[in-house]
Amino acid sequence: MAFEDRLAQRVLGLDVSGIRKVFDLGLKLKDPINFSIGQPDFRVPDPVKQAALQAIREDRNGYTPTQGLPDLLEAVRADATARGLRFEDLIITSGVSGGLLLAFGALLDPGDEVILPDPYFLMYKQLARFLGAKATYVNTYPDFRCTAERLEPLLRREPKLVVINAPGNPTGVGLDARQWSDLADLLARHPRTAVLSDEIYRLFHYDGAYVSLAGLADNVITLDGFSKSHAVTGWRVGWALGPKAVLQQMAKLQQFTFVCAPSFAQRASLAALKHSMEAERQSYARKRDLIYSLLEAKYEVERPQGTFYIFPKVPERYASAQAFVEKALEHNLLIIPGSVFSERDTHYRISFATSEEKLQAGACILNELAE
Ligand SMILES: Cc1ncc(COP(=O)(O)O)c(C=O)c1O
Repeated sequence: MAFEDRLAQRVLGLDVSGIRKVFDLGLKLKDPINFSIGQPDFRVPDPVKQAALQAIREDRNGYTPTQGLPDLLEAVRADATARGLRFEDLIITSGVSGGLLLAFGALLDPGDEVILPDPYFLMYKQLARFLGAKATYVNTYPDFRCTAERLEPLLRREPKLVVINAPGNPTGVGLDARQWSDLADLLARHPRTAVLSDEIYRLFHYDGAYVSLAGLADNVITLDGFSKSHAVTGWRVGWALGPKAVLQQMAKLQQFTFVCAPSFAQRASLAALKHSMEAERQSYARKRDLIYSLLEAKYEVERPQGTFYIFPKVPERYASAQAFVEKALEHNLLIIPGSVFSERDTHYRISFATSEEKLQAGACILNELAE
């Protein structure tokens, strides 16, 4: 194959094998019960679609400023300020993924240390690797809470960056009010370590008020976006809030990479910000209750406070989560092994962003496998 021996180590070091294996296996199944999909199953609200169509028809198809459309920046600023977040600057990004690349790129030199909660969203690990940074993991098993107590020993070395994602992918587990305030106190004692809070699942929060870390602590880089909240994962719009010094470097990097988030989608995002997703949130809260109630008798499982994921433990008699996932596939059920999101392979991820009938049918298979 041409150029096979000419490729950069930077990309050869990235590992997609875990997730690719699941997708390859899934392709072989005919109409599987699919619990592997990381996006909502509701439709994009009509006013949001209309705004996108209108932007294209009105020929607003050119570049926007690299920081984002001024109207959208203003609306995001007003919304975040109303929620009590503290920040100096903001930019519109190409999804939260875009924000992650910019933030990691702005902060991490080769050899720098970044602290990641384990289990983690898989992109964190691969981006750190891409940049030659060193990831250190906070083991959050078995309750998946990235608490101040667990984090404290790792902050003593003054790592460059720590990532918080609560409630997060793949566990759906967050922190309680006391744990948030302890975490904010700890971070205040380590002002040289930057904190990135990935709040992409903010809408999908089912118990009590949602806590944004930037409402409790200074100098937090907050990433958020529309992908999940409005089911527009293909549109690529998010935003980043935080300290001016970091945000300015992120904007500079955006100028030379993404250039800007898609222009029609930025315009439609203005409509998205005005549109209530409360009915969808309540529907997902019911799905959370349903899947948890169906699995809790047979599985060791934490009740998610948010997201549309749940992360049960694989029964002891299976050699690994991979082996369990392969068994589930024989029953036409698609789930993801924990090793995709973790240094361990003892759990599996379900996305419950699907119909209640599918949840019932899938849980029935899972409960048979646990017999
Ligand atoms: C925790 C987390 N952060 C970021 C993303 C990426 O979101 P976006 O579509 O906005 O790039 C995902 C998507 O699965 C996620 O689970």
